[in-house]
Amino acid sequence: MENFEYYNPVKVVFGEGTLEQIGTYAVQYGKKALLVTYTDCGFFAETIKTIHNKLNAAGITCVDYMGVTANPKVSQVKGGVELCKANSIDLIIALGGGSVIDCAKVIAAGVYYDGELSNMLMLSHSDVTAVPPKKALPYIAIPTLAGTGSEMNPIGVVTDDVTGKKSYVWEPSCLYARVAIMDPELTVGLPPYQTACGGYDIFAHVMEAYINGDPDKDLTLHDRMQEGVMKAALEALERVWADPKDTQARGVMMWAASVALNGWLLSGTFGFTPMHQMGHVLSAKYNATHGATLACMMVSWMKYFENRPDNAKYVKLAQNVFGCDLKTARERLDREMQAKGVQTRISQFGVTEEALDELTDMVVAVSFGSDGKLNGHPKMTREDIYQCFKLAL
Ligand SMILES: [Fe+2]
Repeated sequence: MENFEYYNPVKVVFGEGTLEQIGTYAVQYGKKALLVTYTDCGFFAETIKTIHNKLNAAGITCVDYMGVTANPKVSQVKGGVELCKANSIDLIIALGGGSVIDCAKVIAAGVYYDGELSNMLMLSHSDVTAVPPKKALPYIAIPTLAGTGSEMNPIGVVTDDVTGKKSYVWEPSCLYARVAIMDPELTVGLPPYQTACGGYDIFAHVMEAYINGDPDKDLTLHDRMQEGVMKAALEALERVWADPKDTQARGVMMWAASVALNGWLLSGTFGFTPMHQMGHVLSAKYNATHGATLACMMVSWMKYFENRPDNAKYVKLAQNVFGCDLKTARERLDREMQAKGVQTRISQFGVTEEALDELTDMVVAVSFGSDGKLNGHPKMTREDIYQCFKLAL
């Protein structure tokens, strides 16, 4: 593996009923909280009531910011920053999935950020123009969806209102949550489609790490851990699908989501995410659900590599995770995703063949390195990306 530093300071409070402890942890970091959640948060009404009660009991006042949508925009970050400044907020509490937690952490940094908030955004891994934040308000993450792993990483993905580009802020020095309260009960009752999309997002995070590891490095430990997490995540999703009240299986999904992106499976690799880069442009242009964009790209990516000579890792994935050949694994995954109503073809988002050149150009503009390729193993050219989109139609 590569040499690496590992740092993850997030305190995890995990298990059924742990939301009840929000006051105990919040009081350690602030007295005036901003609760950040979705615009359409009817689903959370009881949870929000519990949080208000527990914060009040701990002597914390709370201002609500119900201004976040899926694929949050910089303007939504601005709305939150203004509320923080107007109310002298000293703590942020994020209640929601990746969109809310990502938006909340960019709000936390935005409070102290001079100049345009969009200057924080890195448009590519090699971007040297972004000015990362140096300081942020403390925040507590309360995930309500197992998927993005945002609760244990220092990355906030948001979309620029002006350019329409989905990009990210990444700053380990100030963007980790102080506490992640991970209560699997909060995911019970989530719409089945969202649960499934979250599950396939987890799978995609680990699959990307697995297939893009450097074949010249010793990734024995990574491979074994990643294969285990991928199998466990898929199995847990099937159990949740069969019984939405199975909080043990929901707990497996929730912890798998965190483990997938908290550094344990990625340290010592470069963590390239080519499928995510393609998924992001689909979300930005068609407002497609993140996990569904990945479902499409996973299927097309596997298909693209089916007959290539450099597909050894794909074949190993099929054997060790699915117990079959690559084509059969791809067909099984495709079938299972479709059975849950998750789109596996980008035409289902409204994408036509005429749009493929523009989508490909968006990936090139946002994610290609200075060598004119998309990072991964192997590196992908513009033609590779175009063909993967075409196979995904
Ligand atoms: Fe993701």
